[in-house]
Amino acid sequence: MSAHRILLGEDALPRKWYNVLADMKTKPEPYLHPGTKKPVGPDDLSAIFPMELIGQEVSTDRWIDIPQEVLDVLSLWRPTPLHRALKLEQALGTPAHIYYKNESVSPPGSHKPNTAVPQAYYNKKAGIKRLATETGAGQWGSALSFACKYFDLECMVYMVKVSYQQKPYRRSMMHTWGGTVIPSPSDKTNAGRAILAQFPDSPGSLGIAISEAVEDAATRKDTNYALGSVLNHVILHQSVIGLETQKQLKIAGDEPDILIGCTGGGSNFGGFVAPFIPDKLENEKMRIIAVEPSSCPTLTRGAFAYDFGDTAKMTPLMKMYTLGHDFVPPGIHAGGLRYHGMAPIVSAMKGDGTIEAVALDQLECFEAAVLFARTEGIIPAPETSHAICSAIKEARKCKETGEKKTIVFNLSGHGHFDMGAYDAYFANKLVNFPYPQEAIEKSMASLPQV
Ligand SMILES: Cc1ncc(COP(=O)(O)O)c(C=O)c1O
Repeated sequence: MSAHRILLGEDALPRKWYNVLADMKTKPEPYLHPGTKKPVGPDDLSAIFPMELIGQEVSTDRWIDIPQEVLDVLSLWRPTPLHRALKLEQALGTPAHIYYKNESVSPPGSHKPNTAVPQAYYNKKAGIKRLATETGAGQWGSALSFACKYFDLECMVYMVKVSYQQKPYRRSMMHTWGGTVIPSPSDKTNAGRAILAQFPDSPGSLGIAISEAVEDAATRKDTNYALGSVLNHVILHQSVIGLETQKQLKIAGDEPDILIGCTGGGSNFGGFVAPFIPDKLENEKMRIIAVEPSSCPTLTRGAFAYDFGDTAKMTPLMKMYTLGHDFVPPGIHAGGLRYHGMAPIVSAMKGDGTIEAVALDQLECFEAAVLFARTEGIIPAPETSHAICSAIKEARKCKETGEKKTIVFNLSGHGHFDMGAYDAYFANKLVNFPYPQEAIEKSMASLPQV
């Protein structure tokens, strides 16, 4: 009988992060200053980030040591299991082997603490007392609240208003770990007040919440900003996912033909696939698929251009796939996938063809999530359901062709705090919402001229 789970002992926890910037075919373009449009230097970023993270952001070293203090916290739940989805395979009647890396076993329930913990550690080491951040679905805010506890930092979370209303228990979770949470747009910042003056009923967006958190950090000496996705150092920290997966696939005696992850800002996907990129560059046939919602189709329908990371144009300009920094996405239930931009690393890999991207509708994703819950038992986060749906589609293709491919996807989080979304799905209240072309074109008109 094949094993359901491939487990590693604590001693197999990676001791170094893998930096994909060392091996990418095309490197991302430098960040530009939002005012001067010249490349940013370390000093430009030091108002909101500690120097060690700025160093990691620009490093091209292939391997970077993980500090012992970080390993001590990561080992509370890592290494995470790799599962062979035998019951899903059976239900599909596919000859494919399907595996998933289970990042839902972390205390906050997703991959997010893999970077929250090192970010809290480096900020503490730099003498910072308080971190400000945004959260969409609530997973990142929970992860940072959790991580701040271990390093005795205050945590201030600006939570996208629609999620704040949809997910009261994510708020409770952040409170339990000692975080402070307020709905965004808020009246606490200039950025929030400006949006409220224009759109009093704004549901909020990640772009707006980022503006509020960056402003909070930039205007207080004791406070830095922490971002849960998009940036190079976040993908670096998330590489533990892919590094462990490689070891586990070796134990299982399988090599991946297809790797799949969902993409919001690109961090779980980026960290999961990064260590496989050298293999992919040698093996044309291997496929790496980023899956996004059709209601926020950044990689499949956005422009590859310099844009701001936030609505108030406070962040550096990044060359990335973008739907425009003033994009306010429809309130689909995959809150963590509603970001207008995409990590420059993931964007560069899509730009040069290293990876491919697909956009899926929310109803087919929920259908896949329910099949997964009824076979493998785990109720996935709505974000994660996008990866599951794509894996199921690929496994069904294998059934048609008779090919015995190995499909591996990242199970980025569980959906225990997303049951309102499942209720809405079962009550037939959810609809698909492919983002209208006119809205994309309107947002594109406000891209900065570089
Ligand atoms: C469970 C889960 N998966 C995926 C994502 C998307 O983020 P990223 O693309 O940075 O992994 C989120 C974001 O909140 C999330 O909560």
